[in-house]
Amino acid sequence: GEWDLKILCMGAGYVGGPTMAVIAKQCPKIRVVVGDISQKQIDAWNTDDLPIYEPGLLEVVQECRHRNLFFSTDLDKEIDEADVIFISVNTPTKTKGIGAGAAANIKNCELCARHIAKIAKQSKIVVEKSTVPVRTAEAISRILRANEKGFEFQVLSNPEFLAEGTAIKDLMNPDRVLIGGPQTTEGLKAIETLVSVYANWVPLEQILTTNLWSSELSKLVANAFLAQRVSSINSISALCEATGADVNEISRAVGMDDRIGKRFLQPSVGFGGSCFQKDILNLVYLCETYGLQACADYWRQVIQMNDFQKKRFSEGIVASMFNTVTGKKIAILGYAFKKDTGDVRETPSMFVVRDLLQENAKIHVYDPQVTRGDMWLEMDYTCGVNHDNTPGLDEAVTTSTDAYSACDGAHAVCILTEWDEFKTLDYKKIYDSMAKPAFLFDGRLLLDHKELRKIGFEVHAIGKPDPIKFPGSTI
Ligand code: NAD
Ligand code: UDX
Repeated sequence: GEWDLKILCMGAGYVGGPTMAVIAKQCPKIRVVVGDISQKQIDAWNTDDLPIYEPGLLEVVQECRHRNLFFSTDLDKEIDEADVIFISVNTPTKTKGIGAGAAANIKNCELCARHIAKIAKQSKIVVEKSTVPVRTAEAISRILRANEKGFEFQVLSNPEFLAEGTAIKDLMNPDRVLIGGPQTTEGLKAIETLVSVYANWVPLEQILTTNLWSSELSKLVANAFLAQRVSSINSISALCEATGADVNEISRAVGMDDRIGKRFLQPSVGFGGSCFQKDILNLVYLCETYGLQACADYWRQVIQMNDFQKKRFSEGIVASMFNTVTGKKIAILGYAFKKDTGDVRETPSMFVVRDLLQENAKIHVYDPQVTRGDMWLEMDYTCGVNHDNTPGLDEAVTTSTDAYSACDGAHAVCILTEWDEFKTLDYKKIYDSMAKPAFLFDGRLLLDHKELRKIGFEVHAIGKPDPIKFPGSTI
């Protein structure tokens, strides 16, 4: 036919959409279809109001859409046509049943496998793009094999390492691409096919091939190591506040050791996002399943430290504000789990808001990308707080359309996402509009605290010693 290869991706979310858009951009002779069961999601991908915000994404989609990139809900037709099928569906932590609160739910992956098995009329390569427990490829293979009609499927693992907010950059220039597959003649051939796709733009030295289980497990390990660094520096931030050491100075001094490295040592109100906690819990559950309780406990501590950090932040706010925030307006600047995304899954901001609501504060949230609807959905899903069980919720939380109105009349401003635009706000103007004393809690170490104190703010920042308690420190 006219195409070198036909790819279908099942799942048009944060991973499926950007990943396939970049494959389409870099491989004009490959036909790429992104499919989903959600009509709403696919309709949005077919407009310029994409379902996710990601810098540079719209440009790539506009370049490729209707050329070699298509979005469709006609999964039957596209499964039939595709040579290679990526499974890029959500694999959230189970909320009930066996392994509730830890195990990853792979039911959507299994449904995709069953859908493929039902429709396919010839041999296909099926690629796990979703993050899954190690040995999920075996389950997928068995489902496919049990339904075979005289031909074989090859199952590969190709985990995704993109981070939100930098997805296009990460996909265009990945540190590595990881492809795991069966070490059989047919399996190695399938691996070669997928390597040849990425080789259109990724240097071969950066395309790693492994067995299936190493590939699946590497993804969980990579996220566990990254999150562990954040929890490690956050644990030190608490010690800094107690001793007069400055956590930024520590990050710098420690990170300049090449063996440790500079990145991912930024202290914060805690890590969020759909991956870190879910994937560590997935790893913890695997360790427990294989009887390795000590290993499970070791990794669980990374999450416990993160919970401690989020709690510590909201408790610090209440303690600083004379042990009561009842009826006080508190401005929350930033609700997304990091800058340059509208994603609020597991966002630390939500936990701070939840805690302050319990203290009967009046919350005003401003985030440049987050919608009020998404805020409530995630608050309900993750914290169990909703309009039915919490009367007055709508009045207690205002969403503002700009930072100044969120801060107007507030007793405190909390910086909870590191959006660039928060760096250049007119803090004098904000200070003048606030109740006094005007508190500012910097959960991202984003601002110039010396300047803010000059204006008159009482500043509290993670890992930064309080100048009243430690008058000698240079901050
Ligand atoms: P998402 O929730 O944004 O998207 C998943 C999509 O799959 C949804 O649109 C859903 O409608 C669709 N879907 C569910 N079941 C389906 C089915 N049977 N057939 C077709 N479509 C179906 O999820 P995401 O953030 O893109 O994550 C997908 C996977 O990638 C997860 O396993 C996640 O752990 C992993 N991952 C995510 C990131 C990230 O930054 N978000 C990074 C690396 C890996
Ligand atoms: C992560 C992994 O980085 C990525 O490789 C994987 O594919 C998906 O999970 P993501 O969750 O999108 O990506 O963002 P990331 O940049 O890792 O940040 C996660 C959380 O950690 C954010 O809340 C961020 O603010 C926080 N973080 C990160 C810190 O608090 N300090 C840091 O130094 C780095």
